[in-house]
Amino acid sequence: TKLYKIAVIPGDGIGPEVIQEGVKVLEKVVELTNVRFDFHYFPWGCEYYLQHGRMMAEDGIEQLRQFDAIYLGAVGFPGVPDHISLWDLLLKIRKEFDQYVNIRPITLLDGAPCPLKNTGKEQVDMLFIRENSEGEYAGAGDWLFKGKDNETVLQTSVFSRKGTERIIRYAFETARKTGKSLTSISKGNALNYSMVFWDQVFAEVASEYPDVPTHSYLVDAASMLMIKQPERFQVVVTSNLFGDILTDLGAALAGGLGFAAGANINPERTHPSMFEPIHGSAPDIAGKGIANPLAAIWSASQMLEFFGYEELAGSVLKAIEQVMVEGAVLTPDMGGKASTSEVGDRVVEVLASMHAAAKAQA
Ligand code: NAD
Ligand code: IPM
Ligand code: MN
Repeated sequence: TKLYKIAVIPGDGIGPEVIQEGVKVLEKVVELTNVRFDFHYFPWGCEYYLQHGRMMAEDGIEQLRQFDAIYLGAVGFPGVPDHISLWDLLLKIRKEFDQYVNIRPITLLDGAPCPLKNTGKEQVDMLFIRENSEGEYAGAGDWLFKGKDNETVLQTSVFSRKGTERIIRYAFETARKTGKSLTSISKGNALNYSMVFWDQVFAEVASEYPDVPTHSYLVDAASMLMIKQPERFQVVVTSNLFGDILTDLGAALAGGLGFAAGANINPERTHPSMFEPIHGSAPDIAGKGIANPLAAIWSASQMLEFFGYEELAGSVLKAIEQVMVEGAVLTPDMGGKASTSEVGDRVVEVLASMHAAAKAQA
């Protein structure tokens, strides 16, 4: 038995609503197994900002450093400029803890409402590996001649050899381990420095993995193909910004933003990794108790997997899938009438009965 210390940052908008359900599921896992979690809550976010003038405590990063993982809801809410709230909390954590791999599964689970006809898991089963530490999100730039006629802003992308190579290598390792193909998505025709370099590094690393089938698409064509022929994509590696955009598209393809999960990983494990749904704070539905908690619950399952409990992680995912197949307890975004906590309760019930059935069989 190991005790895992989890830093919980519920955050803004629907963040706290969905995180509560994820914790509920993890508490059930504790009850059913010998895994132990110690949750520590941090009240950081936009409300905290309005009170304290900052998004997290001054020594917030130091406080988080001692945890085994971070479980985060969402950050950002009207009233605080988005670039401030995100750069001082979410993006800061990703960078400070060198969480350079963002793993976002785009899988059409059974029971999920796919917008495409005759499409199932055979067609939509992708694993996005998004560069998560630099690229278009380097935060570098300048604002020149403010207010003048020649006012000009620069937003610089940074693609270091180290940063580019490590994410591509991680993706090749993942593809090799799972026996899948690897697709690189870039834009070397227009982005004549960054993406030319990306393509070059991809080709270099590819030569070390002759056993992994590869594809390479331009991002515009790739977004078309994801809809037209999603079966082309298995493991996908792409830059920070392209990965951000394409995984929201992918989420829609896999049934909705309400159950798309993500893991921000520091593979060396010298810093904590962070688990969060890929959706935001959804101000339009915040406070109504109707947010879909399945993305947050799936992220919790990714955390179990990260800690080495693959089977448990699989059970949580199966429970999510069963709740969708049943179709009786779903939130409005999936065409249901249930509340956020009713969906969480149902996942917990299914998980418990799956566990009881497995026990009875053994
Ligand atoms: P969003 O993901 O919050 O919402 C987009 C749409 O999807 C909305 O209509 C929303 O109601 C719906 N939606 C999202 N999650 C849902 C869920 N769990 N259940 C049901 N419906 C759901 O994106 P946005 O509106 O562009 O951004 C809102 C705020 O969140 C902004 O401040 C943005 O910067 C921030 N944001 C944060 C994160 C994060 O913390 N990881 C991610 C994306 C956006
Ligand atoms: C995401 C979000 C963030 C990103 C924003 C909120 C900075 O959209 O996690 O997908 O762009 O990475
Ligand atoms: Mn996003």
